[in-house]
Amino acid sequence: MDLASFQGQLDALRARALQAIADAATPEALGDVDASILGRKGDLRALLGGIGGLPAEDRPRVGALANPIREEIEAALTARRGYLETRALEDRLSAERTDVTLPGRAAWRGSLHPIRETEREIARIFGQFGFVVVESPEVETDELNFQALNIPEDHPARDLWDTIYIREPEGMPPDGPRHLLRTHTSPGQIRAMRASAPPIRILTPGRCFRYEAVDASHAFEFFQVEGLMVDEGTSMAHLRGLLDAFAHELFGAGRPTRFRPGYYPFTEPSVAFDIGCVVCDGSGCAACKRTGWMTILGAGMVHPVVLHNGGIDPERHQGFAFGMGTDRITMLRHATRDIRAFLANDLRFLERF
Ligand code: PHE
Repeated sequence: MDLASFQGQLDALRARALQAIADAATPEALGDVDASILGRKGDLRALLGGIGGLPAEDRPRVGALANPIREEIEAALTARRGYLETRALEDRLSAERTDVTLPGRAAWRGSLHPIRETEREIARIFGQFGFVVVESPEVETDELNFQALNIPEDHPARDLWDTIYIREPEGMPPDGPRHLLRTHTSPGQIRAMRASAPPIRILTPGRCFRYEAVDASHAFEFFQVEGLMVDEGTSMAHLRGLLDAFAHELFGAGRPTRFRPGYYPFTEPSVAFDIGCVVCDGSGCAACKRTGWMTILGAGMVHPVVLHNGGIDPERHQGFAFGMGTDRITMLRHATRDIRAFLANDLRFLERF
């Protein structure tokens, strides 16, 4: 072989390579072309491997002839690769094109729990009369849940079997306050009276706990809303008027209401507040035990001892309080039969609201 024939073979290789590169239709095909020309077993290596046949004085010129051609081929490979990759991307983009005119897929949204929704509705109605919502803790002292509310030591509600007590942490003084899960929201009355001065108009909604045998109408964990008003000259007539307005807004303007005598240690006098049965409208059915009436809350004038325990002078200020089961009100509003459904976290139930 002489230099001229080496040059000729090099030119032929260059032409072949550039043609193959231009013909490669995919990045994979281009990779094959790359390997077959510049690779370890490629044509260029093979050609350079033959330079032993050149006269000794020509050998140093081989690099000067071959290198520009290698560079040219490399540049052609890079350019073609860039082109093929861009085209592949463009093809994909146009195949996957999004039709922005299609209707969107709605995101799944949660909603208020029916009990929370009822709580807010109750707060909205009483809010019109100046009542504000305040919070009161779920873990309460024995003193506020019972004693301060005029519930004596030997009252049956304090029985271990009705109240869930908290084990006091290690190291607490044995004669310190005893803690429990509040059995009603009424301790919120004492807290509100001690925290502020009349006029007081508050609501304390929240979770309560009792050691109950669970069935369709009893849960060991349930919700109440407490209401308290303390002012000069507050009377039973104000209580009645307020509760009537509440019942009419929640259960319909024509709904009959009544007070029945009741008993609570912390109110005197005490009443049960009934509305005409929402199922049979008063004619008598299983839901109202054939009475035509349903009790929706307990209420009364705040007992003077309780006012006193709240730091209020019963000679000067009077008050009324009421407490209702939010679960029960929610069941009546939505004709739900089983209280257990509210806390079972079954979306089939919750999604209906
Ligand atoms: N705390 C009472 C109960 O849980 C309800 C109530 C509240 C009654 C306020 C009168 C006044 O049954």
